Amino acid sequence: MPVFLNNRHPSMPPLSLALIQKRAELLLGLCGRAEAELSILLLDDLGMAALNEQYRHKTGPTNVLAFAMGEGQGADLSGNLLGDVVISLDTAAREAASEGIGLHRRVTILLVHGLLHLMGLDHERSATEARRMADREKQLLERLLAEERREKMINLAINVDHVATIRQARGGSEPDPVLAAGICELAGAGGIVVHLREDRRHIQDRDLFLLKQTVKTKLNLEMGAAEEIIAIALELKPDMVTLVPEKRKELTTEGGLNVAGQKKRLTEVIARMSKACIPVSLFVDPDSRQIRAASDVGATFVEIHTGRYSDAVGEKIREAEFNLIAEAAEEAFELGLRVNAGHGLNYQNTARVAALATIEELSIGHAIMARAIFVGLDQAVREMLALLPAR
Ligand code: PXP
Repeated sequence: MPVFLNNRHPSMPPLSLALIQKRAELLLGLCGRAEAELSILLLDDLGMAALNEQYRHKTGPTNVLAFAMGEGQGADLSGNLLGDVVISLDTAAREAASEGIGLHRRVTILLVHGLLHLMGLDHERSATEARRMADREKQLLERLLAEERREKMINLAINVDHVATIRQARGGSEPDPVLAAGICELAGAGGIVVHLREDRRHIQDRDLFLLKQTVKTKLNLEMGAAEEIIAIALELKPDMVTLVPEKRKELTTEGGLNVAGQKKRLTEVIARMSKACIPVSLFVDPDSRQIRAASDVGATFVEIHTGRYSDAVGEKIREAEFNLIAEAAEEAFELGLRVNAGHGLNYQNTARVAALATIEELSIGHAIMARAIFVGLDQAVREMLALLPAR
């Protein structure tokens, strides 16, 4: 997948050429042109203005120009030489500033635009083609981001509810879930999860507001979609919320949310969270209907319920449940959802789920806290982390 990246900007603004090169390679793969040769030239406005004058008879610089191999003499559209994308970093930097985005993102957008030109799309041909090109650009950018996320190591988010359960058994102040969260983070956890239940059986409002101040990684508030809890979430502004079904009598969250059966309500709740910049995850069973509904209602994430897999007795049933998780995760990923998973995962059954490339985060509580009683919380977290594959 040869990408020839040539920087001819005399004083390049801060830009990682390695990242742009990597993104160009990923984009070629996503376009089904993994074998193609692409050349990228980075210029300043002066250089770009000269090219714009020479080839388009236009005065002044532009942001991106694409020169397809198929356009000029010696054209060979079927060959592997795609052509050149030329980007003015000065124009890209101005556009990035006015759009409030980073330079890497702006250059990536221009790269996608240029690449689509090289593949024969042209927004200047007609309004229909302009729409098609804009749709394809958006889709490619989303898939590129998803591809990059997939390459990262899976994240371990730890649920510290059980620490609060022990505290509540005596109604005192120890053990403190806020302190537990800090120990989990020091041991390498990538996120902290707490479930604020309507009956406040474990996590209290005080815990939440302290965690918001102390968690350094990511605070995920698990919650039912009750108005009282929604109001707290909107005030707290955690890094994300995970909506779960909540029944007072259950020992722990039992099944996934019936998203398909309450699309209107969930669309409304997600819109309110989005307005407060809080991404929403929906805890769903590994069921295609629920995954599609989660995409329809505008969720950012789904958390796939791994409880039936974790509780499965016998190889055959466990295998079937695992396959459902793998298929659901893939379907969600392809729909553009970010994919987490959790419930019932332990030191025996986690590695297999963690190996699914479409899953970015696991949410684990009980198994880690149970082990922590014997080996200490720091050690229990580290042992779980050791089971997760580096990708
Ligand atoms: N994800 C969700 C949505 C949950 O409700 C729970 C349980 O609180 C978990 C993950 C963690 O499950 P476990 O405690 O079995 O690891």
